[in-house]
This record gives sequence, structure tokens and C-alpha cells, in this order.
Amino acid sequence: MSQKFIINGGRPIEGAIKVKGAKNAALKVFPLALMTSEPIGISNMPEIEDCYRAEEMLVALGHEVSRSGKGVVEISYKSRTCVNLPPGLVNKFRASIMFVGPLLATCGEVCFPHPGGCVIGAGTRPIDMFLDGFVKMGAKVEVLENSYRLSAKKLKGATIFFPKITVTGTESLMTTACLAEGITILKNCAMEPEIPALAEFLNTMGAKIAGAGTPVIKIEGVKKLRGGNYMLIPDRIETGTFAILAAVANSGEVLIENCNPGHLEALWALFDKIGVNYKLGQNSVKISPTKKILPSNVVTHEYPGFATDLQSPYTVLMTQAHGLSLIHETIHDRRLLFTDMLTQMGANIIMADPHRVVVSGPSKLYARKLISPDLRAGIALVIAALIAEGSTEIDNIYQIERGYEDLVERLTGLGADIKKV
Ligand code: EPZ
Repeated sequence: MSQKFIINGGRPIEGAIKVKGAKNAALKVFPLALMTSEPIGISNMPEIEDCYRAEEMLVALGHEVSRSGKGVVEISYKSRTCVNLPPGLVNKFRASIMFVGPLLATCGEVCFPHPGGCVIGAGTRPIDMFLDGFVKMGAKVEVLENSYRLSAKKLKGATIFFPKITVTGTESLMTTACLAEGITILKNCAMEPEIPALAEFLNTMGAKIAGAGTPVIKIEGVKKLRGGNYMLIPDRIETGTFAILAAVANSGEVLIENCNPGHLEALWALFDKIGVNYKLGQNSVKISPTKKILPSNVVTHEYPGFATDLQSPYTVLMTQAHGLSLIHETIHDRRLLFTDMLTQMGANIIMADPHRVVVSGPSKLYARKLISPDLRAGIALVIAALIAEGSTEIDNIYQIERGYEDLVERLTGLGADIKKV
């Protein structure tokens, strides 16, 4: 039986909450262990399901993963046991594709099924830009009945243009190119903060990457990478999620600590527009109650634009704004479907098309029995439940715990009435 959250809404939300290390940075660092025979240490690691799956993947591939404390992971090489990525793990998280390039570069081949993860794209989320990139670097790609088989005697540097900006695609090809022969130039790259952070760590391992965090990245291949220690950057999506929760609850002062407010400029610009009171510190943000939340349209955009991963909490916020807001989701195809559940809770939302909803607020929300469809929709339902009247039950919380550590403890610390059963 799956676990559920039971949330009694309407409690004041106030106090302090600490942000954990970035999930979407963590998942990209585990596979680097495949590219060196020296140990890798990672700190500020979030204790979440997706990271446990990434650890299991390394163990399945013959590495040893140990912990010397909460959030501190050490990975060492024992022996390479196989070049097949275990389907049961690949199915569970999209970032499993980050293991493909390092195996291809070091073993010359890799087999894997289509990666899983949040069901937020049309059908399964495509991997064409990864495959095209590996082909440009000299790999042969075979599409088998239930899997892909990639092989290459030697990967070679190449110039690769991404037809569409892709975060993990940029990270995957940038990482793989470190062990390819010659120079790789990646164009139209994603610029999310996790990318320069990953490049900086790879450079301490001996890689030669320039331009990460800009649209053009140049990588000079090296023969070997060393080990090293990496401290993950704070999770900007957690930061934004908690800031939006504080704004939606609008009931007390909330201090969000251990974060990097510089990674969320698009959110602060929106807060200016809709009248949320906030104060940025160097590593913290304080949200204070406001008289009235105003509506504002939003269009999700690649970094430094407004993050798609914050669209669902922002949509909940707009149910409490005084007026109409248009939410336009441009990155993922199915990310607005969860608004149906907000409507069931009493929100006034009209879907114009699968990429656009119009929210008319403010609406009183009421408790319902809900099922979390995916990670970010799930956390949005948690936020909605925290301001709803009555006791909301949210099922399928594995999807939420994939990305948020100790959610019950941390939200309880802010005064929420939330239990896991
Ligand atoms: C990353 O996904 C994040 N995941 C996502 O966060 C985030 O929503 C997304 O970037 C956008 O910011 C991780 O970092 C693990 P993309 P990613 O490739 O890299 C299309 C969360 O909730 N595309 O930038 O998989 C794709 O379908 C997760 O934490 C292709 O068409 O996203 C999408 O429309 C969910 N072909 C667009 O590009 C490809 O080969 C951008 O996706 C690859 C992607």
C-alpha cells in the first residue's frame, strides 16, 4: 500500500526552514564516479528517493557507496560489473540517462531502456538530442525492441547544436565530452546554475571546460579524470517552493535559510509585481505577510527565466490572487493537468489548451482526496492542502519524496499539520 500525507489545512505558516542541496545537481554528479578510478565525495546531498536510486545504480555497476553522516556520500571504484543499466532503476528517474555517456566513454558500450521519471511530457520524454549528440561524437546507436544499445571504440570531439535547449542534454554531452578525443563545442546550451556547478567540479577533476553557464560550452577532452570532493549548490526549486508556500499562506514571517537567492531572480521580479513582501539576504530570504496578492501572468522559460519546476506552486498562489492570471507552460507538455485537482478543491481555473490555464482568484480551497501525479504537481497539492479548509489526503507521495527531504518534519517546523501514514 502506498504512503499518504494527511494535511489539516489552515494552520499559520511561520518560522524558519532550511533548504537542502539541489536534487538536479546531485543526480548529475553520481555518474562522474564512472569516469575515474579515484574516490568521489559529495556533501550537502539531499536524502531523497531519486538520489537513493542513483546510488543503487552505481552499486549495480560495481561501485561502493558509503555515508559518513547525513548528506555526505563517498563513492569508490571496486570493479566494473556490467555495461547494462538496470531497467528497474532506469525506469524510476529521468536523470538515469546521465550514466549513459560515462559508460560509453569508458567501456565503449552501454545498453539501457528508455528512462523514466515524472510523466510530464507527451508520451515518454524524448532522448533524441542525447542520441544525436552521441552519434556526432562517433557512437553507433541501435534502437532495439525495449532498449537502446550504444557503442563506440573511441569518442571524438564534435560541434553539436541543440535544436531545443535541454538541461540534462547539455550536462550529459558536456560530461561525456571530457573523455572524448579532441575539442567539443556545444551550442544553444542550457544555462541553469547546476550546469556551471557541474563544470566547476569536473574541472577540479582535471577536465577542461570553458563557457558553462553561457549558451556555448567548449570542452577539450582529457585522457583521465581524478576524484575529488563536491559540495552541492542549494536547491533553487526548494527555495522558490517554500517562498511561494509562505506567500500563499500569508500568515506569518517565514525565513528560508541555506539558499542562494541569486538563482531565483525571475521569481523575485514576479513577487515585486504581485505584492509579496520579501527580503533577500546573502544566503536567505524572508517572506512577510502582505495585504493583498495581485494577479500576474507567467510564462515558463529556460534559465534565467521563470522555472517550469515552480509553475505548479505559482498556479496555487494565483488561486489566492485578486483577479485573473494566465499561466503559460512552455517546457513540458503535461504539467498543467494537475490543475484539475485544484479545481476539485474549489479553485476557479479554466484550461484554454494543454499549455495554458486562466486562474481567477481568490477562491477558498477545500480538502479533498488527491493523488500526486508527479513531483512538482505533488508539492503544489501539498501547498494547496495547507491553506484548504479540512483534512486533505494525498496519495502516491513517493512522487513527492523523490525530490523533497524530510518534508513532514520541515513543514511541521513551520507550523503545518501534516502527517505521513
Ligand atoms: C531538467 O529536465 C530537470 N530534471 C527538470 O526537473 C526540469 O523541469 C527541466 O530540466 C527543465 O528545467 C533534471 O535536471 C533531472 P530538458 P530535463 O531536457 O533535462 C525536450 C523536476 O521536477 N527534449 O531541459 O529532462 C523535453 O521534452 C524535473 O525536478 C527533447 O525534445 O529537461 C522538454 O520539452 C522535472 N529531446 C524540453 O526539451 C531531448 O532529447 C526541455 O527538457 C531532450 C529534451
